[in-house]
Amino acid sequence: MPFKTLYGNGTRFWLQKHSWAYYITEENRLKIEELTAAKPIGEAEINPKAPEQKVIQENSAQVEEKKDSDSALSNTEEVKNIYHHIKVLNEHIANKTTDPTVISGVLVDAVRDTALINRNVLMNAMQLSNLEAKVFTANLVKSTIEMVKASSSFKMETFFKDELIGSLVKKNECPILRHMIRSYLHGVAFLEYYNNIMSSSYAVSRLRIEFNKKYLPLYATLLPHLDHSQISLERVFYKGMRAIPPNLFYNWALGLLLHDIGKETTVEYNHHEEKFNHNKAKEHVKLGISAIVNKTNYCREAVFITGYHHDYYGSSDGYGMYHAYLENFRKNNPGKSQDFCIGYDIENLLKYEVLSYFPAKVLEIVDVYDTLTDKESVGCRLSHNQAIDKMWNDFVIKRRKLDPILFNIFMAFKKLI
Ligand SMILES: [Fe+2]
Ligand SMILES: [Fe+2]
Repeated sequence: MPFKTLYGNGTRFWLQKHSWAYYITEENRLKIEELTAAKPIGEAEINPKAPEQKVIQENSAQVEEKKDSDSALSNTEEVKNIYHHIKVLNEHIANKTTDPTVISGVLVDAVRDTALINRNVLMNAMQLSNLEAKVFTANLVKSTIEMVKASSSFKMETFFKDELIGSLVKKNECPILRHMIRSYLHGVAFLEYYNNIMSSSYAVSRLRIEFNKKYLPLYATLLPHLDHSQISLERVFYKGMRAIPPNLFYNWALGLLLHDIGKETTVEYNHHEEKFNHNKAKEHVKLGISAIVNKTNYCREAVFITGYHHDYYGSSDGYGMYHAYLENFRKNNPGKSQDFCIGYDIENLLKYEVLSYFPAKVLEIVDVYDTLTDKESVGCRLSHNQAIDKMWNDFVIKRRKLDPILFNIFMAFKKLI
């Protein structure tokens, strides 16, 4: 990883208790030498009360300024890095590599670097005008889409094993990066599994048969204006439950990769942690959307997934943006209602026909599961069974935050992998 990228993600990253591997280009090495020659960096920089503070601050400001102007001029090194990973992934596809450890290793490396580079480049792009930023990020967008396509070509469902991925996504990543890698791989594997079961007409028929007994009471609270006789599987999934076509699949996978791009490393985003701050957490959604919409040409699906992945069907502790828009729409259109729970198309949301967006509902499940089971994080984490029980009891039965049918499919998926 280029030093510049890691530095952009944390100006003191090497002081964290992790191991780092990076390189510095000759051009940047000369710049650093020039800056450090101006004033030796010592204890004064670390101790804020030291008399040298002012001079050091000025030097830091110069470094920041140089870094920003360097970043603004080019992100070629980062884009080259992503293309390197695409080449490696494509070689394994061509060679039909089947070893899960090898495949998981190259996938984790590719996703880690692509996520980290996107975070860094997008945050730098925030300092540019929208037009300049879109030019600046154009190659990043192209390379990231190619990485998503190459990585989604593997049978992720076969390669994704909690233990294996957990051992590859080690402690030496920052928690947000670990979460981004796992959520992407886990989410893509789950979408693949979903598509597989949708290819059999039996799965949908079975859901339809057991709907009244198993699911009707749960969905009735989400659609309280409808009579029970009007609530069926077709009311849950707008225009019926179906498989995801390839183009949409890639766009959704891209959304999974970028969904937490606006998170800061210093903020606690876990609901269950003491330090959790609702407003701060809300900010990561807004910042993520702003970066993707204004500073890149990424597809609309990625924007909607980023914006709506904490809606939780309008739960009071949700902070996705769709619910706020929906409230406003209801206020201004008292005669209109949402008669369906989940839409596959953005148009369903733009017309306020549905309560939620399919890939965002999928991501909510993967996202909560990952947060509850992240063994590398500080605090008491749950085992797989404890997490599933908690999600079912607290987030499906007691409160309708996660979608019941999608959660049941997720449970079946977790039994297989
Ligand atoms: Fe998030
Ligand atoms: Fe997340």
